[in-house]
Amino acid sequence: MTSTSTSPPAAAGSPRQDAAPLLAVHDVTKTFPGKRGRTAPVRAVDGVRFEVAAGETLGLVGESGCGKTTTGRMIVRLLEPTSGSITFGGRDISHLGPRELRPLRRHLQMVFQDPYSSLNPRQTVARIISDPLLVQGSSAADARCRAAELMELVGLIPEHLDRYPHEFSGGQAQRIGIARALATRPRLIIADEPVSALDVSVQAQIVNLMERLRNELGLAYLFIAHDLSVVKRVCDRVAVMYLGRIVEIGPKHQVYTAPAHPYTRALLSAVPLPDPVAERTRERITLLGEPSPSSQLRSSRGDPGRPAAPPPGCTFHPRCPKAQARCRTEAPVLTDTVPATGRRVACHFPEPA
Ligand SMILES: Nc1ncnc2c1ncn2[C@@H]1O[C@H](COP(=O)(O)OP(=O)(O)OP(=O)(O)O)[C@@H](O)[C@H]1O
Ligand code: SF4
Ligand SMILES: [Mg+2]
Repeated sequence: MTSTSTSPPAAAGSPRQDAAPLLAVHDVTKTFPGKRGRTAPVRAVDGVRFEVAAGETLGLVGESGCGKTTTGRMIVRLLEPTSGSITFGGRDISHLGPRELRPLRRHLQMVFQDPYSSLNPRQTVARIISDPLLVQGSSAADARCRAAELMELVGLIPEHLDRYPHEFSGGQAQRIGIARALATRPRLIIADEPVSALDVSVQAQIVNLMERLRNELGLAYLFIAHDLSVVKRVCDRVAVMYLGRIVEIGPKHQVYTAPAHPYTRALLSAVPLPDPVAERTRERITLLGEPSPSSQLRSSRGDPGRPAAPPPGCTFHPRCPKAQARCRTEAPVLTDTVPATGRRVACHFPEPA
C-alpha cells in the first residue's frame, strides 16, 4: 500500500473539506456492451465527477437504472471504468490489477442492499467477518478476536459468531454485512441502498448505527439511496443522478431547501411530508410524459428514458416542464452556481440558488 493510503482517517465525525479529497471521481464513464449485436451498448454512467472528503457522507440519489450501483461498483473496482479516473487517497486506482488492488481493499469497502444475498449462507458469521482479515494476512485467532469485537460494535452478541446468516433477522444480517465491511478498518464505505430491503421499523436502527460508526470511526460514506428522507438524515452533501449523469450536487441544506435542477425539484416534491395538512396542500411537480410503472419512484413521473438510447441535448428534456428549444440540442454542463459553495447544476435554466 502507498503511504497515502495508510494515513490515519480524519478526526471522528469531522469532514475535512479543506484537505485533499479522500475519493475523487473524474469524468468516469461505464459502457456495457450490447448482446452480440442484438441490443445497443448501455452507457450506464456518462461522465460523473464528484469528490468525497475524509469523514464525509455524500448521498447519491436518482431513480432506478440511473447508474448509482454501477458508479459504486466502479469505485470499489468490482467494475473497471470505461474511461475517466478514480483517485483514492491520492492514488489513481481506475485500472489497477488484482494484485495492486488487494492492499487497497482494506480501505475501501462496500455494504450491499440485500444482506442475505451478500452473505454466504454456508459460512458462519465468524468466517464471514474474518474473511477480509485472513485475506489481508491476519492469523485465524486474531481474526476471530476482531470478529467478536466487531459483533459488539454493531450491536450483535459475540457469542453468536458460530451461527449462520439465516439464523438472523434482516436487520441483524445487515449488521453482519456492516461488521464485515468494518473488519479491515476502512476509510470509505460505499453503502448501496443499505436499508431499502429492510422493514421500515428496522431502517432507522441501521441508519442510527451507520451514523454512530461514522462519528466514532471517522468513516466516509458514499450513501446510495432512493429514499430522499434517509439521505437527508445521513448525508453532508447530496448528488442527484439522471441517466448516468450528475445533474445537481451540493451541500444538503442548499439542495433540499432550494433545489436548482427541475429533476431535483420534482424528486423532492414527491417526498411525503410528516404533517398531513402540509402534505395535502403542498405543490407537487408533475413531469412530462407517461407514468412509468417500472419506476420505483412513485408519483406522476414521465418516462425515465433509457441509457441505451438517451435523448439528444439535455437528456431530461422530454420530461422537463421548463424545457426550451436549446435544451433539445445542447447538453448542459455541470457548472458552479454559487462559486466556492460546491453547488453545481447541469441545467441551462436553473432555479436561482
Ligand atoms: N452488467 C450489465 N450489463 C448490461 N447493462 C447493465 C449491467 N449492469 C447495469 N446495467 C444497466 O446499466 C444501467 C444502470 O444500472 P444501475 O444498476 O447502475 O442503476 P441503479 O441506479 O443502481 O438502479 P437501481 O436503483 O434499480 O438499483 C441500467 O440501465 C442497467 O440495466
Ligand atoms: S437544461 Fe432544459 S431540459 Fe434540461 S433540465 Fe434544464 S430546463 Fe430542463
Ligand atoms: Mg442500484
